[in-house]
Amino acid sequence: MTTVAAGRLRPRRSCLAVPGSNPRFLEKAQGLPSDQVFLDLEDACAPLVKERARHMIVDALNNGDWGGKIRVVRVNDWTTHWTYRDVVTVVEEAGPNLDCVMLPKVADAAQVTALDLLLTQIEKTMGFEVGRIGIEAQIETAAGLEHVGAIAASSSRLETIVFGPADFMASIGMRSLVVGEQPAGYAADAYHYILMRILMAARAHDLQAIDGPYLQVRDADGFGAVARRSAALGYDGKWVLHPDQIAAANEIFSPSQDDYDHAELILDAYDWCTSAAGGARGSAMLGDEMIDEASRKMAVVIAGKGRAAGLRRTSVFEPPQG
Ligand code: GLV
Ligand code: MG
Repeated sequence: MTTVAAGRLRPRRSCLAVPGSNPRFLEKAQGLPSDQVFLDLEDACAPLVKERARHMIVDALNNGDWGGKIRVVRVNDWTTHWTYRDVVTVVEEAGPNLDCVMLPKVADAAQVTALDLLLTQIEKTMGFEVGRIGIEAQIETAAGLEHVGAIAASSSRLETIVFGPADFMASIGMRSLVVGEQPAGYAADAYHYILMRILMAARAHDLQAIDGPYLQVRDADGFGAVARRSAALGYDGKWVLHPDQIAAANEIFSPSQDDYDHAELILDAYDWCTSAAGGARGSAMLGDEMIDEASRKMAVVIAGKGRAAGLRRTSVFEPPQG
């Protein structure tokens, strides 16, 4: 059975956006190799078709073959009149086949609490396991970023904090129309503060941090550059809007083979040096590198991401002789 904790640890390198009102995309997405899908009732779904899309999503969740992907539905935000019906219809009718609800444009912690309470009521009414369905919170306004610490602390259902660059750029009046690209006239990285602030809040509460969409779907180099930026900071994954972006995201958000091997060697070397056989020391040399408890913590992160991505070790630790 999938527990919330197990769900949190699952890789989300590529999170595929699927418009909930498009039967062809709902079908096709099932066979694509993304780690996650999110079936969208919000901005990819026109107001007139939202009601129908709820039922199409229920049908796709209950009767589709999602092949182990994390299954998420994005509902409309709490400032609209659609949110409660989105949640009630989808969770009552497809709750056991759903892993998370994504809440867009989260402005404060109370909005997450409201969703948490509604989910609990539905789970109790329907006899579903209480607390199994997780929440993904999108930060895409200035207000949301101001409150991101409290948002990240607001519910044990939270699994991810997701940056929504398109709405965010509109919210703060950033002078660029190309989502994720730097605005002209500013020499530094205009996204650094936003990405770091979200990442800090996520990590402080053991949540995954996910980067949002890159809309120029034919620009593979642009996607790669933007994805590498958030991957380098420590983000766990990124949205993908097109099948062509999936393989790139899966690769960019997995550690390289060299880094993975190195991390496993550090873990082995640390285990050895702290053991009686290794002299019960707190630090040791691995080649020319001094390693200690802090190195072990960094290695745990990279090794964990590599194992989750299915990487295999290509080197073996040899304890130093003499
Ligand atoms: C995603 O929802 C975005 O606004 O970028
Ligand atoms: Mg948005």
